[in-house]
Amino acid sequence: MYSRIAGTGSYLPEKIVTNDDLAQTIDTSDEWIAARTGIRERRIAATDQRTSDLALIAIERALDAAGVAKEEIDLLIVATTTPDNVFPSTACILQDKLGLHGFPAFDIQAVCAGFVYALATADKFVKTGAARCAVVVGAETVSNLVNWQDRGTCILFGDGAGAVVLQPSEETGILESRLHADGRYRHILKSDARIRQGGLDGTPWLYMEGNAVFKFAVRALADVAEETLGAAGLGKHEIDWLVPHQANLRIIESTAKHLGLPMEQVIVTVEKHGNTSAASIPLALDEGVRSGRIQRGQKLMLEGIGGGFAWGAILLAY
Ligand code: ACO
Repeated sequence: MYSRIAGTGSYLPEKIVTNDDLAQTIDTSDEWIAARTGIRERRIAATDQRTSDLALIAIERALDAAGVAKEEIDLLIVATTTPDNVFPSTACILQDKLGLHGFPAFDIQAVCAGFVYALATADKFVKTGAARCAVVVGAETVSNLVNWQDRGTCILFGDGAGAVVLQPSEETGILESRLHADGRYRHILKSDARIRQGGLDGTPWLYMEGNAVFKFAVRALADVAEETLGAAGLGKHEIDWLVPHQANLRIIESTAKHLGLPMEQVIVTVEKHGNTSAASIPLALDEGVRSGRIQRGQKLMLEGIGGGFAWGAILLAY
């Protein structure tokens, strides 16, 4: 038994902030940002839009694409680092917003690796028969964690959501998944604040050592892609599409090169929405599907990495 993606959906907030817009408030330029990251613009959620609001639209679109009624959902997993509240989970809030109740719903926190962690988890539920219609959504309002005066980080991030519907299939679906974490690297990318006695202790602003993150990401993504292929008994040449975490065009290009894939076989959306953390892979996947590039039966490599450090890859037949 496999778990197969029956439909995809995504949502980006309406407000667009271009590199030129940022250059009006901080010392940067479109040329600098585009050359180093590939990012041209990002979307920012409205003040009254929470992570669950973005996720809800992405889920509705994925259900529609799958031709599945929401009443069929029996598992909901939300990958997010920017939950609506400390608790209840964003998954419980979303379940209620969907007008559904009773089935398991929970959040997974693995920052930019959140979607691969969540999809790998849902896969286990579906494969074992514990769920027959799982919804996995990556949704973030990272803009709230970013200090918009810090040119070293704010240029990179944006808000968005992407979702998939996962159902059992006899024929095809998720072939392999590999997840990793290494807490020794937790200091190079973090949001350090903790809630203490009703207040915030420390700063919640996202902190990043850009060069160290870059080096770690390139190596870890190359290794996990190879490990996942090896576990599935497939060769690099059998991948039709790489659907990577959209952090940075240079990291994406490096992974593609390692896999021997031309950029024509890589779904790249980072220029349009920057790094949306756990939302970026399902956003790219939905774009690949809706543009007609990703076709049924093709083999996809999804891979993501984020603070923790946490990373992973999923190989699937779409
Ligand atoms: N505009 C103009 N100049 C800038 C900007 C900016 N937005 N940001 C930094 N600079 C300056 C620096 O101050 C520095 O100036 P100096 O030489 O006078 O001191 C110079 O540019 C070079 O700074 P570096 O940090 O060395 O620049 P680098 O080439 O490493 O690029 C970047 C920075 C783009 C952040 C890069 O390190 C990177 O892509 N890292 C990966 C980060 C990433 O993708 N994080 C996402 C989260 S983790 C994940 O999802 C995998």
